[in-house]
Amino acid sequence: MERVREGSTRMRSSGALPGEDGGIGGATASGPGSLAEFTRDPFNGYFEGRSVDEIIPPGSLLDTAGVRRWFDLFSAGLPESLYTYQLPLGLATGPVTEVLGVPLILFSSYSYLGLVGHPRLAAAVREAVDRFGTSTGGVRLLTGTNELHHALEGELADFLGQEAAATFASGYDANIAAITSLFGPGDYALLDQYAHQSIQDGVRMAGCEMRRFRHNDLEDLERRLRQARNRGARRVLIAVDSVFSMDGDQAPLSDLIAVKQKHGAFLLVDEAHSIGAIGATGRGVCEEQGIDPSTIDILTGSLSKAIPSSGGFAAGSEGFKIYVQHGSAPYIFSAAMTPGNAAASLEALHILQEEPEHMDRLRVNTAMLKNGLTRLGFETGRSNTPIVPLYLGDEWRAYRWARMLLEQGIFTSAVVYPAVSPGQARLRLCATAAHRPEHFDRLFAALAECRDTEAEGG
Ligand SMILES: Cc1ncc(COP(=O)(O)O)c(C=O)c1O
Repeated sequence: MERVREGSTRMRSSGALPGEDGGIGGATASGPGSLAEFTRDPFNGYFEGRSVDEIIPPGSLLDTAGVRRWFDLFSAGLPESLYTYQLPLGLATGPVTEVLGVPLILFSSYSYLGLVGHPRLAAAVREAVDRFGTSTGGVRLLTGTNELHHALEGELADFLGQEAAATFASGYDANIAAITSLFGPGDYALLDQYAHQSIQDGVRMAGCEMRRFRHNDLEDLERRLRQARNRGARRVLIAVDSVFSMDGDQAPLSDLIAVKQKHGAFLLVDEAHSIGAIGATGRGVCEEQGIDPSTIDILTGSLSKAIPSSGGFAAGSEGFKIYVQHGSAPYIFSAAMTPGNAAASLEALHILQEEPEHMDRLRVNTAMLKNGLTRLGFETGRSNTPIVPLYLGDEWRAYRWARMLLEQGIFTSAVVYPAVSPGQARLRLCATAAHRPEHFDRLFAALAECRDTEAEGG
């Protein structure tokens, strides 16, 4: 596969950056099956000429508040061509991709190191598929484990500074496995209010009492710890993301460790957005904040972001690993990570350690993104990582900005409720190591244009 960071052949031959030749509304891009058409009708006419009440008869399968909310949004937004979700990429994720024939600069990819398409990864995956095939044909505990899983788990543990690690088919599964295998009714889980959905789901499945403490607020956490003890909690789990995926800020790990030690609680830290993206050598927020990782009881994360594969891990003591491999449902009742994904994860770990230039460029590009937005006067909040939110407030404003940016050849994610609180919609922008200065220039020019258009009432 061609390395994506170099851009598509089509782009190189025209010499134009996405959006420079008229955007998605241009004459060559507005017919059936075009990107412009997709944003107006991605559902094959399902909503056309019908009210939501006609689509959802009372008492029917779809007659729920959740369905109604989404369908009301579609009915109002599609006539304005505001649907920018599920755009079908025609090329690998990267700073430049293509959707339905239109080249786009992508600014919401999690591939922080820009390694998707790296020739060493492609070679490792080919070799794994040649040797082990495309599927493991089983769950990890029974017949689904191969040599790559063992090698990956050993190297991951070393990389993370933990005694041992277990891997799963996703980061979502890793949180479910870690929490449900060790906590249950009678236990309390205290979650940062912005902790990832997979942590909340794990706690719900475990049947623990769940309480949320105010974001990064140690006093509120201590108050809730005291409450939990007064109510007779058996064991207490504190769970946070190390980098919060919607705001791009970090958890105060040393304070959290001090609090959990003081109260005899346990701490789970989800490093999904920090492995390969944060810390001098990409070892995450523990490295960035100078924390000994072994003081954290459970470290979880994803292998589908900076590590460009698909999978997740839960790391901790040797005893933790052994038990999570025998006492967690995802390990026993769900297929093992594919050989290709295990090989890609393993090779990415090697690249990360042997090619520090990707981390260097990510740091430079993160500063470029943050500084450029600040110069333009945009509100980016507490971000101190490659995730830089551009707060817009109203969800329709976020939909409109995402669509206006698309028109100018820039693909970003509009993040709205329930991923964030109502009224806190935003564009979630991410810097990657593979972005080039001209991509940022195009983004900044396009954002300035959005602001002007909005000011003119457009
Ligand atoms: C903080 C956090 N944890 C876990 C996950 C789940 O990881 P995966 O996509 O590998 O299932 C995500 C995914 O976005 C995440 O942001």
